[in-house]
Amino acid sequence: MRLVSLVGARPQIIKEAIICKELQKAKIDEILVNSGQHYDRNMSDIFFETLDIKVPDYNLGVGSGLHGEMTGKIMIEFERVVLKEKPDAILVYGDTNTTLAGALVGAKLKIPVAHVEAGIRQEPKDMPEEINRVVTDHVSSLLFCPSELAVRNLEREGITKGVYFVGDVMYDLYKIMEPKFEDEAYKEYGLEDGKYIVLTLHRDFNVDNKEKLEKILKALDEISKKKVIFFTIHPRTKKRISEFGLEKYTNNFVMSEPIDYLRLMGLVRHSWKVITDSGGLQKEAYFGKKRCIVLMPDTGWREIVDSGWNELANEDTLFEKVLSEDDGTYPENLYGDGRTGEKIVQILMQ
Ligand code: UD1
Repeated sequence: MRLVSLVGARPQIIKEAIICKELQKAKIDEILVNSGQHYDRNMSDIFFETLDIKVPDYNLGVGSGLHGEMTGKIMIEFERVVLKEKPDAILVYGDTNTTLAGALVGAKLKIPVAHVEAGIRQEPKDMPEEINRVVTDHVSSLLFCPSELAVRNLEREGITKGVYFVGDVMYDLYKIMEPKFEDEAYKEYGLEDGKYIVLTLHRDFNVDNKEKLEKILKALDEISKKKVIFFTIHPRTKKRISEFGLEKYTNNFVMSEPIDYLRLMGLVRHSWKVITDSGGLQKEAYFGKKRCIVLMPDTGWREIVDSGWNELANEDTLFEKVLSEDDGTYPENLYGDGRTGEKIVQILMQ
């Protein structure tokens, strides 16, 4: 069997780390394609290196752009690769523009598309990631769901064929990499064990509107007077803060460029809490038994919120939710048993 996998944005590279190793074990021929959606060293190369992922066979070098521009460019270049390599199936991950482009190319060429992280749904329906998820799921032949809720979401949309509840590859990665997490990293930033908040922020609905971003940063600035905030900043957010002239609200934060997986997980493990609008980090906080305040109106990872462990917040409720007392007990085993990669590869072979 011959597979083409497409990655491009940071979270997909992380997921590929598990799948590529399982494919190797099963002796499945994998051609790895990087769309180049993320291209800064700290957003891309660093993950290939620290997670020991093979060098991509193709780099499409697409970079940033408007949605149509980016998706279209990836489709044009990826179609050429697929026509040349003639795979039996195409593997796409998550919900980015790279995912959508890969799925559309496969569907149009009548090559089965396998979607890892299928069935995740969240409001608002018009957020770019939600559009990417819905379209990708509807043109995929194999749908690998990370949660039981994801299976039900697909059922509601009439998708029942080729659907498998396999768990979350990010949990596999967490379990495998745990011994390598950088447990001393917090000291390098002058942080104290268990006493700081890890913050990430990058969603368009949070950072692309000046008023909204200002309100969020104001609330965070207030929080930072009570608890130290470690802010690892996405390039999109960095640009917006500077464009909107909002730097004054970040003076109290401990700032950092984007950091690699092992370092971030080490920092989360020694934190007090996490605040994020990242789908991946809200789960990683849960894996590390840390509370997470999710800065979103809704989340695709509802199980953690419904259990009372994670909480949704907005700019008005953030201060109170972060600093209030926590209740609720830790919900175990929401995302499989850490053998998701193995299950996916077994199903692919069948
Ligand atoms: C993308 C995904 C999102 C995912 C996130 C993880 C889409 C629609 N969104 O969002 O699902 O959670 O990746 O990070 O695909 N930039 C750089 N250097 C880079 C990458 C980006 O400077 O290496 C800047 C550029 O200004 C770019 C902006 O960040 O325009 C946004 O990047 P983009 O890939 O469009 O979306 P993300 O916000 O990263």
